Amino acid sequence: MYKQLLVEIESLVIDEKNFVVNACNFAAHLYSQMQDISWLGFYLLSHDSLLIGPYQGKPACIRLQKNKGVCWASINKRDVVKVDNVHEFPSHIVCDALANSEIVVPLIKNGVIYGVLDLDSYSLDRFTDEDGINLKLLVDILVNASDMQAIGKFYGKTY
Ligand code: SME
Repeated sequence: MYKQLLVEIESLVIDEKNFVVNACNFAAHLYSQMQDISWLGFYLLSHDSLLIGPYQGKPACIRLQKNKGVCWASINKRDVVKVDNVHEFPSHIVCDALANSEIVVPLIKNGVIYGVLDLDSYSLDRFTDEDGINLKLLVDILVNASDMQAIGKFYGKTY
């Protein structure tokens, strides 16, 4: 599945530099192609918090307070964070009470971190290490095609 997704995402973003535009299509395509995902989208660094970006799924938390939850754990680790059971993650931020597992991938370009891609599922243990590796490859395609400095400025990235 990921082999095909990598080709499809590349073709969706290759001719466009605007991150918002690319992230909209990225989220729409992945959400429509992946199974058992309740929410898929972006949170971008904005001053001292993470602010919601393009996504698919139900409305979610607008701002994630610094150093709380799974998304901030990924920012601080600068790596993928996979949580098999969100109820066991101490500072997990609940946006949808039915979500049970989550994976978060940081958006890093030229060593600078801009935010995260976040996926939630209503199933426990939905995500594998293989998902983490491939989602990272997909995110790399997105950030490499997009003008990340511009979106950082727009969202007020200071972190
Ligand atoms: N659960 C996340 C918050 C974002 S929602 O899942 C869409 C967290 O703990 O950071």
